[in-house]
Amino acid sequence: MSPTLCSPLLIPTLTKQVANIPSSVAKLERLTPPLKWAGGKRWLVPHLQNTWQKYRNYRLVEPFCGGLAIALGLQPKHALLNDINPHVVNFYKCLQKGLKLDIEVQNEREFYYVQRVEFNRLIQLGKANTAKAAQIFYYLNRTGYNGLCRFNRSGGFNVPFGRHKTINYTEDFGGYKSTFTEWKFMSVDFAKLKIDTNDLIYADPPYDVEFRQYSKNGFEWSEQERLANWLTNQNCPAIASNQATPRILSLYQDLGFQIYILNAPRRISCNGDRVPAKEMLAYRGFEKGIELS
Ligand SMILES: C[S@@+](CC[C@H](N)C(=O)[O-])C[C@H]1O[C@@H](n2cnc3c(N)ncnc32)[C@H](O)[C@@H]1O
Repeated sequence: MSPTLCSPLLIPTLTKQVANIPSSVAKLERLTPPLKWAGGKRWLVPHLQNTWQKYRNYRLVEPFCGGLAIALGLQPKHALLNDINPHVVNFYKCLQKGLKLDIEVQNEREFYYVQRVEFNRLIQLGKANTAKAAQIFYYLNRTGYNGLCRFNRSGGFNVPFGRHKTINYTEDFGGYKSTFTEWKFMSVDFAKLKIDTNDLIYADPPYDVEFRQYSKNGFEWSEQERLANWLTNQNCPAIASNQATPRILSLYQDLGFQIYILNAPRRISCNGDRVPAKEMLAYRGFEKGIELS
């Protein structure tokens, strides 16, 4: 039988199963992520806090910051937060300047599609980096289907209406402004980031999807390899998370990372049974052994 997600401890001598959130580091997050984002890692924050506490004077670097769950959970003073998606980064840069929602918002199908057309018009006009675009992006994110962020071949945002029963739109994002003061936001490919020895990298790329040649999220296997090698070449502590597929575990283990496997909150179907998905945390470049529990 070929290896599947139901047998996650494929390399048992080097892996460690961690089941529970360490109580000593359980902490309430002060700010919640303002957007809905696929693959959000809010649930991982308590697992990373022990480590972060020892490195809290470092700059947190997130090459794949997405919905910002980790940075908002760990609250570093200094951070470099990057995502290749320019719209999410424009939204954060606007929050940094104290964005307020002064456009009309309605959880209504026709209205949603009018706003979608307007957002795509701003992109066409080269105005995707404006406060107006940031506000519409927020509205589309909350009102569209599942918080998806998807574009067609000609670059148009094409997520359908979400049919949510109720939506609590935030109107004043002032709470984020002071937290974001010393954070730097960028939108480039991860390999373009300039890393310092006083950085701690947390890398959360799109999940590895096994047994599929082309992944829907555009992050192919060669990209996973490129990332693991890039992390290995940085002269600072680094943590990577990913779906604990056999090939991801081998990739990181072969590069000398220390591997931990956690039960993720989402469930996957395995031989007809719904079992918790397995998440890998891979550590490299830490002074002492990392204690997660
Ligand atoms: C799993 S999500 C990150 C989720 C985030 N940790 C959170 O908690 O919300 C992965 C992110 O990687 C970004 N991404 C994909 N390819 C990238 C690349 N080559 N460089 C930088 N970011 C990339 C995607 O836009 C997406 O937001």
